[in-house]
Amino acid sequence: MTELRSPLPPGSWLGVLGGGQLGRMFTHAAQALGYRVCSLDLDEDGPAGSVADRHLRADYLDPAALDELGSLCAAVTTEFENVPAAALQRLAARCFVSPAARCVAVAQDRIDEKSFIAGQGIPVAPHKAIRTEADLAAAGANLFPAILKAARMGYDGKGQVAVASAAALPAAWTDLKRVPCVLEKRLPLAKELSVIVCRAADGAAITLPVAENEHRGGILAVSIVPARIDAALAEQARTLALRVAQGLDYVGVLCVEMFVLADGSLAVNEIAPRPHNSGHWSIDAAASSQFEQQARILAGLPLGDTRVLLPAVMLNLLGDLWFDRGVPREPPWAEVLRERLAKLHLYGKREARPGRKMGHLTLLGNTVEDALAAANRCAARLGIGPVG
Ligand SMILES: Nc1ncnc2c1ncn2[C@@H]1O[C@H](COP(=O)(O)OP(=O)(O)O)[C@@H](O)[C@H]1O
Ligand SMILES: [Mg+2]
Repeated sequence: MTELRSPLPPGSWLGVLGGGQLGRMFTHAAQALGYRVCSLDLDEDGPAGSVADRHLRADYLDPAALDELGSLCAAVTTEFENVPAAALQRLAARCFVSPAARCVAVAQDRIDEKSFIAGQGIPVAPHKAIRTEADLAAAGANLFPAILKAARMGYDGKGQVAVASAAALPAAWTDLKRVPCVLEKRLPLAKELSVIVCRAADGAAITLPVAENEHRGGILAVSIVPARIDAALAEQARTLALRVAQGLDYVGVLCVEMFVLADGSLAVNEIAPRPHNSGHWSIDAAASSQFEQQARILAGLPLGDTRVLLPAVMLNLLGDLWFDRGVPREPPWAEVLRERLAKLHLYGKREARPGRKMGHLTLLGNTVEDALAAANRCAARLGIGPVG
């Protein structure tokens, strides 16, 4: 593994594996600090490739492209959690890589992820790994009603099915093509939270303020910051997230998703080894955004302060908004931007599809209530249901 010779001077090249919106926002932040960015992915004019200083159009496992990226760049990060660990390992022979392949590998497999988190003594939902027919029969009645989640490649609620009872489990597993899965008890959720941890190569770590998240149809719809929870619970959430990052000896930006249960206790749901949709508000409302932190960590610069400058509500802009009763349209941006504290981010994706993340809108306010009121005015103009 290549260590960081830090700090990297402005003009140095930073690399990003993956070409989506997270890579685009990382690129903007890295360029603002004076770095040049090279992205690697297959898409000709994807969100990251179209703003990077250089774009290597290649498969993540293309050895020549990886070696070119690793020779050009002093440090490389990833924006896509299913980048093959082998790609990160190959890069690590030539340059500093953050996060490390072994951290990404844990987050890529829900079975490993759950056992790692539980192994740290951190509460998780009661669960059981399902790999064989025998595992189905051995699933205890206490786990139902449950959710069956494919161990690999799931995101935005994809690769998950609800399982009402033990009797329904074999059919649910067949629905998921009998791949390795985690069977998880469905918990009574009072709230969903996320904590983004920024951890540098020297072990220094800071979290962003806790975000409160609302999902619709399995996809993040709204993040509210600061979360409307008491200070003690926020502190507990931050402590759990830092423990996860320390336990992994994680270097980079890590999101830890959590549930607040009906009894007020916390359980960790899953981790994402990269900046996260629930941290996009930080571009406009935190002293340093999650993407700036990703660039700072990669370049060996000190971490930035993450305090909230103004309370914020982020609305995800999904492709559904580009259609009015099935007819393609451009959403009414000028109307939305009449809201004085609205910050619009569009990712430059050419084609809108239902469920596709096209952009996000952050509303600021002097209080969370003000930001929510602004979010609701914009939601109404866009045709999104009420939030908060
Ligand atoms: N054990 C659970 N109990 C209740 N709700 C859950 C549970 N697991 C997941 N969910 C709901 O489903 C959403 C998506 O599940 P998650 O495991 O985070 O998968 P993804 O990788 O698709 O984000 C969560 O944000 C939460 O709303
Ligand atoms: Mg999730």
